[in-house]
Amino acid sequence: MATPPVRKGTYSELGIPWGWFRVAWSADLKPGDVVPLHYFGKDLVLFRTGTGRAVVLDAFCEHLGAHLGFGGTVREECIVCPFHGWTWTPEGENQSIPYADHVVRGKIRAWRVREVNGIVWAWYHPEGDEPTWEIATLPELMSGEYAPFHPDACRTWESVRVHPLQPVENTADPAHIRFIHGAGMIPELGEFYSDRHRFVCTLRYQWGYGRESTWLTPEGPVDGLLIAESQGLGVITTRYTGIWPTVQITGCTPIDEEHSEYYTAVLVREGNPETRSGLIRHFFREVESDFPIWEHMIHRPHPPLPRLESKIMRTVRAWSRQFLPDGPADERNASTNEGDRAER
Ligand code: FES
Ligand SMILES: [Fe+2]
Repeated sequence: MATPPVRKGTYSELGIPWGWFRVAWSADLKPGDVVPLHYFGKDLVLFRTGTGRAVVLDAFCEHLGAHLGFGGTVREECIVCPFHGWTWTPEGENQSIPYADHVVRGKIRAWRVREVNGIVWAWYHPEGDEPTWEIATLPELMSGEYAPFHPDACRTWESVRVHPLQPVENTADPAHIRFIHGAGMIPELGEFYSDRHRFVCTLRYQWGYGRESTWLTPEGPVDGLLIAESQGLGVITTRYTGIWPTVQITGCTPIDEEHSEYYTAVLVREGNPETRSGLIRHFFREVESDFPIWEHMIHRPHPPLPRLESKIMRTVRAWSRQFLPDGPADERNASTNEGDRAER
């Protein structure tokens, strides 16, 4: 039987959101590395300079248009174009032309880049606006109590049909945790609120609900919390309690209006290697279990919502409007609820 085509265009209505998005794991980018990227519908080049600075530029050389990510090399702080050897600074300025005694004024667009929490982030804004917030440093990473997530506890999935809004909405969707993630129960909605670029949502549930023992809950069910904090639509930090202390950093980077690269990193407190590898496997599997739904769904701007879902879904969608270009009018006009704290 033929596979039905994905419903093209249904995510495009939302458009590519602005904010900070992951473009690399820091540890994968060594000084001198040059990597071609394609995100936000654009061709880009990522490189690390001799002194260790991560740089993202538009991909194409101002001279005759070579892609700097294919054959470009790093010389000190600059990238050298493979076609005729022109060199470009991290700011995208022409530093030298090997066969001329002048430089050109043309500039390659330089992207805003940060390195926080072992991740290289690029700021995307369709109008080129400057960043309006910064990614927060994770205290767990600074504490030294958690095992580094690179290389075995982080993963990317190259092209998933998903809009960045969807995983953020998932944090505010208790019912899917039973049906997709096999929780056995629908979690109870706890506190949720939005605060400028942040949206925080808490779910209460039982690990191992209804089962005498599982590998995670050998002594029987355990009360737990899932506290998810989104910073814009590109990064969600989820803390789990009730099990071995674990923090998950996850989200997606738009490739185009329909597809994203999905990523996750699992931070597990040091001390129990077997539990750690079990948790890593568990969270990788849970990430993938959402994909088949996302692959084929459409975005419903005005869904019918029962009581459990209505307030939180309205809140998360109203909050998300600040990161989206023109979208469905009702969501654009929804009240922002900024700073509101609410209980179900
Ligand atoms: S195209 Fe880059 S130096 Fe000529
Ligand atoms: Fe999910």
